[in-house]
Amino acid sequence: MSFGSSVTKRLDGKVALITGGASGLGECTVRLFVKHGAKVLIADIQDELGHSLCQELGTENISYVHCDVTCESDVENAVNLVVSKYGKLDIMFNNAGITGDNEVRVTDASAEDFKRVFDVNVLGGFLGAKYAARAMVPAKKGCILFTSSIVSKISVGLPHAYKASKHAVAGLTKSLSVELGEHGIRVNCISPNAILTPLFQKSIGNIDKKKGEEMLAVSAVLKGPVLEAEDFANAALYLASDEAKFISGVNLPVDGGYSLSNQSWKMGFAALLE
Ligand SMILES: NC(=O)c1ccc[n+]([C@@H]2O[C@H](COP(=O)([O-])OP(=O)(O)OC[C@H]3O[C@@H](n4cnc5c(N)ncnc54)[C@H](O)[C@@H]3O)[C@@H](O)[C@H]2O)c1
Repeated sequence: MSFGSSVTKRLDGKVALITGGASGLGECTVRLFVKHGAKVLIADIQDELGHSLCQELGTENISYVHCDVTCESDVENAVNLVVSKYGKLDIMFNNAGITGDNEVRVTDASAEDFKRVFDVNVLGGFLGAKYAARAMVPAKKGCILFTSSIVSKISVGLPHAYKASKHAVAGLTKSLSVELGEHGIRVNCISPNAILTPLFQKSIGNIDKKKGEEMLAVSAVLKGPVLEAEDFANAALYLASDEAKFISGVNLPVDGGYSLSNQSWKMGFAALLE
């Protein structure tokens, strides 16, 4: 799927910082935001990927900074850099995330992994919001986005640390939207179902893309279209744009209704009929 060629620039004049922008959903969002006229700073730890994306898209409206979101001074530096380079910060997208070890049994999961997942997914987002808010409050406007997940709405077979961290991200979104609304700052998060990025492929044992898509198609509630990174990026584009000027505190599912369904009913009936 492509984004199409002639589009109105929905982020013209806006400046965005996107964590985890070197790969997967973040990368796709970077491409779409730049296409829509935004100036974007990518903050990630995969330096080679980040730099090559900047080279591919041209140097004027896009740049890269090494930033480990678990490190407060890295996050502060990234926010300072975007403001000094482009003059302001309109959109802070806290998207970086990890699933951690693939261990789904609580009895075998390690405390160390639990902490690591929370550090990246929750502390990282908190730090991004903290320094973004410092830049946005004086401007009396801004948009803070997070990437949560369908696992903030329903439980699927992923590790507890990951699922709990994405609930925390949704909670942080609500909490921040109430505090920062006073300053004209909107705060929202996006909760996609599985999309075949490196992160998801790793969590299902690196099966090939085609097999993964077939697996997702079988379990999808909305039949026909395949959920792709572009669908996630389009949701981010909407929430970041002025079209969403009164949308705040929302956890937006991008899952074709999956989180509303209870697949176990279907399985139960199928088992009865066998
Ligand atoms: N792909 C999916 O199925 C899916 C579904 C729901 C939610 N998500 C969420 O989407 C977000 C993006 O994931 P993705 O699927 O694009 O995976 P990905 O692995 O392709 O991208 C994640 C990016 O985050 C970066 N990152 C990891 N740790 C970091 C750190 N400490 N500091 C800075 N950057 C760091 C990685 O280098 C990578 O570029 C994550 O928050 C993930 O939890 C993904």
